[in-house]
Amino acid sequence: MRKHIFNAGPCKLSDRTLTNTAKAVLEMGETGQSVLEVSHRSADFQKVYDETVALMKEVLSIPDNYSVIFVGGGASLQFGMIPFNFLKTKAAYVNTGVWSKKALKEAELWGEVVEIASSADKNFTYYPEPKSIKIPADVDYVHITSNNTIRGTEIFEDLDSPVPLIADMSSDIASRPLDVSKYFMIYGGCQKNLGPAGATFVIIRNDFVDKVADRKIPTMLKYSTHVDNGSMFNTPPCVCIYAIRETLLWIKENGGVEGMEKLAIQRCDALYNFLENSTVFTPVVEAGSRSRMNVPFLLRGKYATEALEKTFLEFVKTKNIVGVKGHRLVGGFRASMYNACTMEDVNALIAAMKEFEAKVK
Ligand SMILES: Cc1ncc(COP(=O)(O)O)c(C=O)c1O
Repeated sequence: MRKHIFNAGPCKLSDRTLTNTAKAVLEMGETGQSVLEVSHRSADFQKVYDETVALMKEVLSIPDNYSVIFVGGGASLQFGMIPFNFLKTKAAYVNTGVWSKKALKEAELWGEVVEIASSADKNFTYYPEPKSIKIPADVDYVHITSNNTIRGTEIFEDLDSPVPLIADMSSDIASRPLDVSKYFMIYGGCQKNLGPAGATFVIIRNDFVDKVADRKIPTMLKYSTHVDNGSMFNTPPCVCIYAIRETLLWIKENGGVEGMEKLAIQRCDALYNFLENSTVFTPVVEAGSRSRMNVPFLLRGKYATEALEKTFLEFVKTKNIVGVKGHRLVGGFRASMYNACTMEDVNALIAAMKEFEAKVK
């Protein structure tokens, strides 16, 4: 029986993605070869790749002056590649938790870093008010993490910036309409809203690609290498790209990013409404900053014991629910509800929580 999957990434994927990728593992189209076997240089795979890039551009409304590439190394490699390529003297970072701090640390290897906004004062339980984020004009770029997977905060506004704006959108890409033209670069691991783990997407403005610092950059770490070679300088993550194509087609069939946003709002409203009114569970994140993708929650007041936490995690297993254990740095629980998560999944979680509540009260 298929479970209700609330994993933070890798995570639940659409039935279309799973079924069609599984088919392609046996035979990709009518090529007589598996997607695991086909040459990345073949016309058959090139067609899949080209369609995937075209779908990214269509689904995310990416303007013509941007390139889309798929590379390896995860979003974590991008943390280092960004400053290695673009940090000449000074860069600005917004610190909204673990992932943005990791990105910032990498930048410190290559130049001066200014932390222009932070939510550390309240343990990252909010996203700094967009208007309070003052971006200096004398930095090479500004970096934000649009959705904080661990803390469950998110920014829904595309910031105006006097300098190139770069965003880690690992955990909220394709969950809302986006004004890509406000960004010079958007990147992220694909393993949440776009497909399986193993591919990293980079959306980059063409005139930014070569605006690199005056330092020797290894070939594989240069954005131009991957842009100029259409992600084929080395062997790309072929099966991931296939699955991403299927996911993008599924997004298209389901109302595009507008459809994804509608569903995301429904899911998180339902869960937050329950949490707000629960006597046993409590939300963690301040209203106004709440991520639609990741919802952390705790046991409330007298119920907040380690023993009851364990009991709840055991209890949800009996309801076919997986992935709600909180991140090891935060504890408690977290429900990650990415694009493929259905209201049926969310309702199953809420029903389990209600039943647990009645049991312990
Ligand atoms: C917001 C964010 N950035 C970066 C990462 C790191 O991604 P990767 O594991 O692909 O390096 C994650 C992983 O969950 C994430 O959620």
